[in-house]
Amino acid sequence: MESLKEKINIGKIPRHVAIIMDGNGRWAARHGVERSFGHEHGVEAVRSTVEGAGEIGVEYLTLYAFSTENWKRPKSEVNALMRLLVQAIENETGELMKKNVRLSAIGDLKKLPRDVVQKLNECIQTLENNSGLNLILALSYSAKWEITEATRKIASEVMKGNISQNDIDEKMFGKYLTTAEIPDPELLIRTSGEYRLSNFLLWQIAYAEMYFTDILWPDFRKENLFEAVFDFQNRERRFGKTSEQLFT
Ligand code: IPE
Ligand code: IPE
Ligand code: MG
Repeated sequence: MESLKEKINIGKIPRHVAIIMDGNGRWAARHGVERSFGHEHGVEAVRSTVEGAGEIGVEYLTLYAFSTENWKRPKSEVNALMRLLVQAIENETGELMKKNVRLSAIGDLKKLPRDVVQKLNECIQTLENNSGLNLILALSYSAKWEITEATRKIASEVMKGNISQNDIDEKMFGKYLTTAEIPDPELLIRTSGEYRLSNFLLWQIAYAEMYFTDILWPDFRKENLFEAVFDFQNRERRFGKTSEQLFT
């Protein structure tokens, strides 16, 4: 049987895929274990997805790992997630190096515990000269926070006279976002059967294709990524034009 990967058109790979990794808690409940085990198993899904993205030549993969709103979870769960983050970064750096992955992070990183930031920076530094997949972790991230921050920075530049208010356009606004150097995602995936964006990349996904799957994040594997990419490739992206215009 032809595998899904072979059905993918290598000439039409989304440059940037963003994923809302959801459903760890429900996965844990289904297996009769604590929520933190769900998060732990989520790391395997990340490993497989990163590998798959590299195999088909995705350039940027952004993973929503922790939202600004997630700080409102019980302290014990937040702590477990932070511990897991440190552990996962420590354990995976070698593998990421082998896969030629570069790492970066977006979000209100100063809210993260010191050891998390430290491990994260170490890992980013170790991988900084790699030239393969760009893996971006969204940590303590929310789109409204990001857009507000950008606005604040632009206002301050205008006040200082460094830029004029007439210089502000979509392109320049984008330069003040945490994703300044990154092309907008073309494909957004959310697992666990929820149909919402939960404050993720609102500006950048203005024209992304959405893909929702019932699979819970810990069960997600690269084959599921290939499925999503295959689905993406069979859509007609019109960007406001008519279908006829696309072919003339
Ligand atoms: C996603 O899984 C992980 C984070 C948000 C950190 P959840 O923990 O949200 O899992 P559910 O939605 O409760 O199943
Ligand atoms: C979104 O998932 C955030 C992450 C995946 C990190 P949530 O589980 O926190 O989102 P809601 O609460 O269902 O909107
Ligand atoms: Mg959830």
